[in-house]
Amino acid sequence: MSQSQAAPLTAPRDVVVVGATSAVAQAAIRHWAHQRARLVLVGRNRDALERVAADARLRGAASVDTQVGDLADTAFIETVCAIASPTIALIAHGSLSDSARSEASAQYLEYELTLNFVSAAQWVQQLALACERAGGGTVVAISSVAGDRGRGSNHVYGAAKAGLSAFCSGLRARMATRGVHIMTVLPGFIDSPMTAHIANKGALWTTPETIAQGIIRAITRQRDVVYLPGFWRLIMLIIKHVPERIFKRLKF
Ligand SMILES: NC(=O)c1ccc[n+]([C@@H]2O[C@H](COP(=O)([O-])OP(=O)(O)OC[C@H]3O[C@@H](n4cnc5c(N)ncnc54)[C@H](OP(=O)(O)O)[C@@H]3O)[C@@H](O)[C@H]2O)c1
Repeated sequence: MSQSQAAPLTAPRDVVVVGATSAVAQAAIRHWAHQRARLVLVGRNRDALERVAADARLRGAASVDTQVGDLADTAFIETVCAIASPTIALIAHGSLSDSARSEASAQYLEYELTLNFVSAAQWVQQLALACERAGGGTVVAISSVAGDRGRGSNHVYGAAKAGLSAFCSGLRARMATRGVHIMTVLPGFIDSPMTAHIANKGALWTTPETIAQGIIRAITRQRDVVYLPGFWRLIMLIIKHVPERIFKRLKF
């Protein structure tokens, strides 16, 4: 079997994490640090990133490098990915776009789509190529169940995540014979800084640690598309089948 057709690597040897300050990413980083991985942590906030890096070093990471920059800047993406040689990459950055604000500002709408879709797609693409150059690996993109069907309350975020899920689906097919596995993660509600403003979190909510454990498990099993927790697959199956004339009247 030639190197380019080899099975994708799932061992956490060299791991690149984009949006490394995210609560979900931090939980995954703690796991990989215990596994003595070599980590490259990418984010926009130097101080927060250094705190995550220091914690990873304490927990046993073989090495930790940090890359600080604008995650939506194409030149920064290309620079980081040109020197990366990951066996695993996780793309975790995202912003829960404000639908009302996007009605008032076209600039805000454009930025949110750029951050949540365009930049995430660029990171997935470039890191997939970096994995291929390094001999194979797994690229994990955190999308969302919100991308499975557009809702009135978060139509911008949902559209960006839908685009990201579709991009990953196509890229997975492109990379399937090239030793690189593309995994799409579709979490439901996570109790993280992104959702700190939401009161009355109910039974459907879960922790960043649970999502990170699900991601680690799914990498080992080389899953293609994984709903986390798994019950969201059924919920979204039902939601996707609600007729549009009813769905458009639902206030959620
Ligand atoms: N929370 C949920 O309910 C939920 C549900 C489904 C999917 N997701 C997805 O899960 C992923 C991880 O989210 P999380 O729950 O762990 O949230 P989180 O802890 O709030 O993390 C969000 C991450 O995105 C980064 N970020 C936000 N705005 C940014 C910007 N303008 N430029 C660059 N980076 C930016 C943050 O960086 P700073 O630390 O510098 O702010 C942080 O690293 C995201 O892709 C999110 O869309 C979340």
